[in-house]
Amino acid sequence: MDAELTVPEAVGVVHPARAAITRRVYVEAFGCQMNFLDGELAVSRLSDHGWARTADAEAADLILFNTCSIRDQSENRVWSRLGALRERKARDPGLLIGVMGCMAQREAAQILKRMPHVDLVCGTRRFQEMHRLVERAETEGQVLAVEVDGFVDVVRDVRIRPERHRAYVSVMRGCDHRCSYCIVPRTRGTQVDRPFDDVVSEVRRLSADGVREITLLGQNINTYGRYLPDRPTLGGVIRAVDQVPGIERIRFLTSNPMDIEDELLEAMAETPAAAGYLHFPAQHGHSDVLRRMYRGYSRERYLEVCETARRLCPGIELASDLIVGFPGETEEEFEATRSLMETVQFKQVYIFKYSPRPGTAAAEKLVDDVSDAVKRDRKNELLAVQERISIARNQRLVGTDVHVLVDGPSPRNAARLSGRAEGSHMVIFDGSEDLAGRFIRVRVERATAAALYGTLVPGSEH
Ligand code: 5AD
Ligand code: SF4
Repeated sequence: MDAELTVPEAVGVVHPARAAITRRVYVEAFGCQMNFLDGELAVSRLSDHGWARTADAEAADLILFNTCSIRDQSENRVWSRLGALRERKARDPGLLIGVMGCMAQREAAQILKRMPHVDLVCGTRRFQEMHRLVERAETEGQVLAVEVDGFVDVVRDVRIRPERHRAYVSVMRGCDHRCSYCIVPRTRGTQVDRPFDDVVSEVRRLSADGVREITLLGQNINTYGRYLPDRPTLGGVIRAVDQVPGIERIRFLTSNPMDIEDELLEAMAETPAAAGYLHFPAQHGHSDVLRRMYRGYSRERYLEVCETARRLCPGIELASDLIVGFPGETEEEFEATRSLMETVQFKQVYIFKYSPRPGTAAAEKLVDDVSDAVKRDRKNELLAVQERISIARNQRLVGTDVHVLVDGPSPRNAARLSGRAEGSHMVIFDGSEDLAGRFIRVRVERATAAALYGTLVPGSEH
């Protein structure tokens, strides 16, 4: 999953028809989009039982950390946040503290032992029971719920969501690959596919409640359907979601390049609502390192997929995750990642310093022999390369019109509006606030690495 994209922290949409609100939950999510969605789904369950979301931790009766395990640093941050709550719990013993997500799954009972003031630990496939777990924590004391077997029933009140016009929809969970660096198969379990009709009916309900852009989520989303009786595909889901009235943009995350097939790219090309954006992490540019990572493809194969994507979907933007400092990474191997970036010209890359994760093949069998200083230098070098590529790519769009879903006032300058173009570019322009949630066209006048700036094309809103 893509760990670095940020999702705005927001309170759930409050509806007058809800059960009387008696208590407040503060949820803070770390990590990937799947985690953000799971936090929303947990809040949705709680909201059926008298809870409402608050953005103010001080006002909360339940503080829920939705955690990530992808790197050591992701977990350390949560340990220190939990430690900092010890004093508050001593002052306010009625406060409930819960940990959910990947670190809850991985560390499980250790969390309750190291942090006795934590009331509940809920694994990656148990968050739908959050309301019951909270009740048990109140009556029985510390609760541990981390079993990963079985199907996750993602029942959802679609009205509870942080953004009015966009929503995440889970289509599958877990991952059957065993990339040597990755903790996810342990924390998220093996692949479970959600029935096709459930996915489409959730999209219908979201659309009826005002959603216009859907992001389909799964750890390895392009293998969706392999465990369902009639073997639906992600391409099939995209085509079906495109038919739902009101849905005008479809995205999906995240794909393993090993599993990308032409059928998916063809579905993207033929579906008007499918956004021209593909996030498929290369992880590295050298075939020897890809082999040590157990990725199942070579540099050449990766480049072939990029070429096919660009041939079938002209104008598509490609994005990637890259790891630097994987065990044994030589200067020459590192250079191959740099040259991959130069060759592919990604719109965006997320660069990570390798962090050994306990129990993974790389941590057990390989020595973490690239020093942190070298990892840092390599990461900085790649960031500089990408900055240059992003500026050049974005500047190609100057003078063209981009199709934008308007978010609202720009986070950096509330006098202007911001939104997202099809290729996931942030777009900044002047306009009235009631354009939020509408699609418009913007004529691009200026571009930086981070954003496009331009003017609203009059009459283009719909
Ligand atoms: N160390 C560093 N980065 C990692 N990622 C996954 N596992 C590790 C690890 N052990 C990166 C991958 C993945 C992204 C979410 O995090 O690039 O795509
Ligand atoms: Fe998402 Fe869990 Fe992976 Fe972090 S470890 S990126 S939260 S799936």
